[in-house]
Amino acid sequence: MKHRYLACFLAPSVLLAIATTPALAQDTSPAAQIEAFSLEAGRAADAEAGKAFFLASHSGGKPDTPSCTTCHTMDPTKGGQARTGKPIEPMASSVNPARFTDSAKITKWFRRNCNSVLGRECTAGEKADVLAWLNSL
Ligand code: HEC
Repeated sequence: MKHRYLACFLAPSVLLAIATTPALAQDTSPAAQIEAFSLEAGRAADAEAGKAFFLASHSGGKPDTPSCTTCHTMDPTKGGQARTGKPIEPMASSVNPARFTDSAKITKWFRRNCNSVLGRECTAGEKADVLAWLNSL
């Protein structure tokens, strides 16, 4: 009886601690992110547009990184390479289930990489499209 009482007492505070913990790794899913970016963009995600965007050569960014594929390669089911030569794990969530499960990581790298490639941040629509494609492979 004593134990059960203790469990009832502790459970709400444990739940509260989980609910109020800020962006931890593995705090989201590809589907949740696609939905959030689509909502922000005010339209549905378009995987084909995401594919075209990811594979295209852009201007406006740094000359040595004209495309997402510069580091992530043309085939997101395969690993890529950073400018430093450091390996990058595959981007397709089907072969790399850890992809797009950490909201802080997604925010950080979209900001950084879009600035490198486009010289600006990606729009919510572009992010929704890219994630929809990478999640469909
Ligand atoms: C200069 C190299 C480089 C370029 C160019 C680049 N990326 Fe990345 N990207 C990285 C690195 C390095 C990481 C972090 C390591 C990792 O996640 O494996 C990363 C991670 C990401 C992530 C986070 C993935 C996750 O698991 O949450 C997203 C999203 C992303 N990139 C999208 C893009 C998009 C979209 C473009 C094109 C606009 C792009 N990247 C161009 C190097 C690059």
